[in-house]
Amino acid sequence: MNPQFWWYVSRASGIVAGVLLVLTLIWGLLLTSKIIDKKGLPAWLTDLHRYLGGLTVIFIGVHLGALVADSYLKFSWAELFVPFVSTYRAGAVAWGIGAFWGLVLVEGTSLAQRKMKRKTWRTIHFLSYPVALFAALHAAQAGTDASNPIFRITSIFLIGLLTVLTLIRIVYVRPKRTVIIPKKPEAVPGPPSEPTPATSSGPPPYTGHFEP
Ligand code: HEM
Repeated sequence: MNPQFWWYVSRASGIVAGVLLVLTLIWGLLLTSKIIDKKGLPAWLTDLHRYLGGLTVIFIGVHLGALVADSYLKFSWAELFVPFVSTYRAGAVAWGIGAFWGLVLVEGTSLAQRKMKRKTWRTIHFLSYPVALFAALHAAQAGTDASNPIFRITSIFLIGLLTVLTLIRIVYVRPKRTVIIPKKPEAVPGPPSEPTPATSSGPPPYTGHFEP
């Protein structure tokens, strides 16, 4: 076997994981910003965001497993998960470890979504943006292929598209507004009361809040 086999596996799976990560976000943003209308889509396309996220996790697993199997870099398990334990490109690898733990939180809470408060789940889900940023910094600094023109052009294109879609999401997609209308007080039978003078005009006051 080629002695560099696992190193190649780690590089290739890192690249695939990075591309899948960005595609997961791009597809999610296309749906939430309504650039693509969910209504007419087959179920597998609306679920694609989840499938891509799951595949990303699988390829990260291969990326890390191959680093341990590789006899040149010789990563221990602690070096994989704790920043700055490894001396190999410590800063660059730390970005990857940060992205990994962020991804664990995002994916873990997505699996437990039904048992969680929607607001908590969404807040954690927004971590996907820093995860993508950390992964991009990690790939640019740690990767052997960072200077490869195809790697560069693909990265610039995908990150550019992701940035544009994120801006569209922030600027154009308004949060859903939920209006809570207070219940009318029940009519209590009693003696006829004096007519009260109108103190204000317009609809009754209501409390409302915005869902993020
Ligand atoms: C979301 C998580 C991660 C993503 C998306 C990711 C992605 C990538 C990518 C795209 C590369 C560049 C491959 C190349 O240039 O050939 C890379 C390299 C690398 N990654 Fe990760 N990575 C992640 C997490 C981690 C973690 C947790 C570690 C822990 C040690 C790690 C260690 C490395 C190392 C050592 C390299 C350099 C390999 C080389 O010599 O080219 N990565 N990663």
